[in-house]
Amino acid sequence: MLSLFDATSDPTAPNPAERAAELRGLIQRHDVLYYQHDQPEISDRAYDALFQELVEIERVHPELRTIDSPTQRVGGEPIKDFATVEHRTPMLSLANSYTREEVLDFDRRVREGLGVDTVGYVCELKYDGVAMSLTYVDGVLVMGATRGDGERGDDVTANVRTIRSIPLSLASSDIRNAVVRGEVYMLEKTFLEINERADEAGEKRYANPRNLTAGTLKQKDSAMAAARKLEFVAYYLETPDRAITTHAESIETLSAMGFVTGRAVQTCASIDDVLTFIDRWDSERDTLPFQIDGIVVKVNAIAHQQELGAVARSPRWAFAYKYEALKATTTLNDITLQVGRTGVVTPVAELQPTLLAGSTISRATLHNEDFVQQLGLCIGDTVIIEKGGDVIPKVSGVDTTRRTEGATPWSMPHHCPCPRNAPLHRPEGEANWYCDDGQCPWQLRRRLEHFAGRDAMDIDGLGERAIDQFITAGLLTSIADIYSLASRRDDIVQLDRWAPKSVDRLLAGIEASKQQPYARVLFSLGIRFVGEGVAKILARAFPSIDQLIAATHDELTAVHEIGSSIADSIIDVAHDPSARELIEQLRAAGLQFTGQAPTIVSRAFEGQTFVVTGELTSMSRKEAHDAIEARGGKAAGSVSKKTTYVVAGASAGSKLAKAQELGVPVIDEEAFRSLLSTS
Ligand code: IVH
Repeated sequence: MLSLFDATSDPTAPNPAERAAELRGLIQRHDVLYYQHDQPEISDRAYDALFQELVEIERVHPELRTIDSPTQRVGGEPIKDFATVEHRTPMLSLANSYTREEVLDFDRRVREGLGVDTVGYVCELKYDGVAMSLTYVDGVLVMGATRGDGERGDDVTANVRTIRSIPLSLASSDIRNAVVRGEVYMLEKTFLEINERADEAGEKRYANPRNLTAGTLKQKDSAMAAARKLEFVAYYLETPDRAITTHAESIETLSAMGFVTGRAVQTCASIDDVLTFIDRWDSERDTLPFQIDGIVVKVNAIAHQQELGAVARSPRWAFAYKYEALKATTTLNDITLQVGRTGVVTPVAELQPTLLAGSTISRATLHNEDFVQQLGLCIGDTVIIEKGGDVIPKVSGVDTTRRTEGATPWSMPHHCPCPRNAPLHRPEGEANWYCDDGQCPWQLRRRLEHFAGRDAMDIDGLGERAIDQFITAGLLTSIADIYSLASRRDDIVQLDRWAPKSVDRLLAGIEASKQQPYARVLFSLGIRFVGEGVAKILARAFPSIDQLIAATHDELTAVHEIGSSIADSIIDVAHDPSARELIEQLRAAGLQFTGQAPTIVSRAFEGQTFVVTGELTSMSRKEAHDAIEARGGKAAGSVSKKTTYVVAGASAGSKLAKAQELGVPVIDEEAFRSLLSTS
């Protein structure tokens, strides 16, 4: 295959060094638009295309790699041990208060300490995450360290670099050296997704976003950290490059340096304004996409802060106002069982629907048998539900004073709730019960849902309802059966709500899924620990499933992002006859189990050079390039007189202008597609 960036063989190819620098600038700009302003200008797909282009340049020209290149976020050497680093300025913690009186007391002490009548404050949300200290030297991020004991923390730079809202180089030209502190945290949505996957894979759930964040920062496998999407909010700046007089000014400066600052930073002229802010966020906190555990109040003037100083690791110029957990009571109508993808059986509370923190709650997991026994739950009880640190509402207690005579004790059933009723077992030393029935339709349902899901094979028309119907009708008894549904057309049309048109759509969706790339297929198989990110890494390191399955533990862990547990899990698959059989069936059905270069379709574009620019809707940039190369054409990165066609997608910019200037023919996506189909 022709290399896109082989400058020696093609005078029209862009200069890789210049293009790499340009791409880095573009990516940084789009990061700021996305994370700081919440206003992306390009789609995720277009962003990925820029990113991939840079990855490719750096792969071909490793000498062009820079320490602050965004590609360096994806994970580096495995971390052996986290070195201890000393904080030049200690990382303090905050004194807590819980009542209005305590807030007013604080204000009184501050005013007395300073000998003034009123003091200006800044209020911020107290993000519930992990404190982080970042060091920048000559504009480049050189260190990320946890708080530790306040004096010394752990060097977690490799993982910190994967956080996309942390600039690898500062956007400011005046401030080049700085210590920036803030909170690393996780969006509730990300947390829920990760826990959902943990559930499906039969792994332990994480207690709350903060624990998961802390665990992620201590990951030895930085590719895992990258896959977990952490966020960063900056709230403290120390720099020799500029004299800063107020905290509000620090926040503005941080923003100019390229950081995301708190979503609700407010300057308050007096303590009354502070109380208003506290009340406002007490009622609005459940509308935030992340968790806060309170409000932080800081004296605004830095001179005042210095005058007040600190006592025993807590500054006298700031405090945290802590909110209470959100609670409600309701009736426990029943306890049912849920069966996960790997056979873990979990009790679930079926609740009288009730409103908690803005959403209606009708179910809550009860985790396992012991949890139910420890609470001593009876069906019919009045239970307390709480939305605390772990985002998911949970049953946190029972009001036994309201127990009625009809309340019935519950014990863990010893058979699977599915119609096959297989016996369950609880391994010694574990809290979970498992269903080992390889034919269990409930497990199958979860596996199928994962396989067909949007992030996996993305099979249009094969949603939860369809899967249920097909299992019941005996049309799906394994994942492989999906690919024989085409021969069961007549049976499908017999089913409720399956008009011939919807069947066509489903079958087309199934057919299209055969083109899903190898990395996605790998993810879809639902191998333990093989999430989307890991699947991509594996597909790159082992370009075919046969190579992957033949790999030894050492070969697997030699891939620097792959840790021992992932390797074990792959080896389990290699030794599992039913997993091997499934792979063979899917291979026979035509799924992609290799990550090959595109096959040659024709030589129709021989001698022609294409430049694809702007955003395409029906294919990615990479797919367009592959399609061009598959027809013997060349896909170039910049427009010159020798360019045959410029393919301009939506919001095409400078390349389109250049084409018009040089009189190079410009075609739109539709014309490009029809050109492809006739070539
Ligand atoms: S200021 C001396 N601001 O809360 C100033 N902290 O116990 C110290 N936190 O360790 C921190 N959001 O992890 C500050 N807007 C915010 C914060 C915040 C969360 C955390 C931070 C700190 C702890 C204080």
